[in-house]
Amino acid sequence: MFRRIFVITVLIFMVSVFFAIPTFANNLKGVLEINSWWTAGGEAEGLNALFEIYRAKYPDVEVINATVAGGAGTNAKAVFKTRMLGGDPPDTFQVHAGHELIDTWVVPGYMQPLTDIYKSEGWTEAMPQGVLDIVSYQGDYWSVPVNIHRSNVLWFNKSIFDKYKITPPRTFNQFFDVCDELKTKGVVPFVMGTKGGWEAGHVFESILLGKLGANDYNGLWTGEVKWSDPRVTDALETFAKMVSYLNTDHSALTWDEAGQYLLKEKGAMMIMGDWTNGWFMSVGFEDYGWAPPPNTEGIFLALSDSFALPKGCKNQENVIAWLKVLGSKEGQYSFNKAKGSIPARTDVDISDYNDYLKSAARDWQRDAISPSVMHGAAASEGWTTEYKDTISLFVSRPDVSYTQKVLVTAAEEYLKK
Ligand code: GAL
Repeated sequence: MFRRIFVITVLIFMVSVFFAIPTFANNLKGVLEINSWWTAGGEAEGLNALFEIYRAKYPDVEVINATVAGGAGTNAKAVFKTRMLGGDPPDTFQVHAGHELIDTWVVPGYMQPLTDIYKSEGWTEAMPQGVLDIVSYQGDYWSVPVNIHRSNVLWFNKSIFDKYKITPPRTFNQFFDVCDELKTKGVVPFVMGTKGGWEAGHVFESILLGKLGANDYNGLWTGEVKWSDPRVTDALETFAKMVSYLNTDHSALTWDEAGQYLLKEKGAMMIMGDWTNGWFMSVGFEDYGWAPPPNTEGIFLALSDSFALPKGCKNQENVIAWLKVLGSKEGQYSFNKAKGSIPARTDVDISDYNDYLKSAARDWQRDAISPSVMHGAAASEGWTTEYKDTISLFVSRPDVSYTQKVLVTAAEEYLKK
């Protein structure tokens, strides 16, 4: 009898310990401040999906959504920098994998390595080598990529294309033929919003890619190809011509506001990253098609959003738990489905993602990959900013030879560093 009571007591004890351990391990408290620039439709939903997972796992942590609006992080990055340099590091903040992460934050010593977490969570197996490479420095991993975005996408309004029997232009000549035809029909052929100052640089990287091809475009950022190259001249001339077909109110619009032209069937084409797919989903717009911008078929101009662990951040344990959610299958599945990007992990089931995303996932596997400059992958932040401002100015003052000279000087300056 006594023996039986003893065994039952021990069993009850073991069962309660078994259930108590996870509860105890999840017993994080306090706050977690997540800094990003994800405020637009699609972006906000993606972020929210991550918050939901986090809150379900750690109900006692108060998640603070600290966003600074402005596409491509043009405003947010300045805020992150002020806090980091001012000794008040955010718990964690959105940072592009590649040069933006490594040159700006890792090399000067502001971040903590995440290699142990990568190993314990199995991310070294779940993420492809190319992705691991852009978050690596001196044998360690430094941030957790939550997605892969594509920069070079030409979005078009399907009804307009159907109505005028237009097929997506594959070359620049075809692009201008389409523009001329649409102009005669009273449709704005090519739409941009340039309010944020980065959107022209975004479009121009696709033009450079189309004119130089993957290898030589990459060479512009490594110094193997000179910015004085006649193909850069050609790219600038082509961009100046594209600008002549733009909506006249472009400087008053952000990228998503410009997207309204497609929604309202007033504008036909727009070159923008695939967060546009997330935005289309969030506003319930389905009348869109997509294609690579002229001459970029078979090339995937890539970027990746990630989060890291700043030295001295206040809520370290909570941040580590956040990073684990970001790298998890569940986190990547839910975030990307709404965000319009594809998971950085290769083992996420995306069979119920939309058609665009499935096509992006296919292209990511088979295309040549080039790094986006406008979104931190190809060049240091200083060089990227100079490129951005130069191309932004070019839209209002399309002086090809002056602009190319500035681009040449910037390359010389930053490649020396
Ligand atoms: C990019 C970022 C994307 C998207 C876009 C527009 O820099 O990587 O996630 O948010 O800006 O804001």
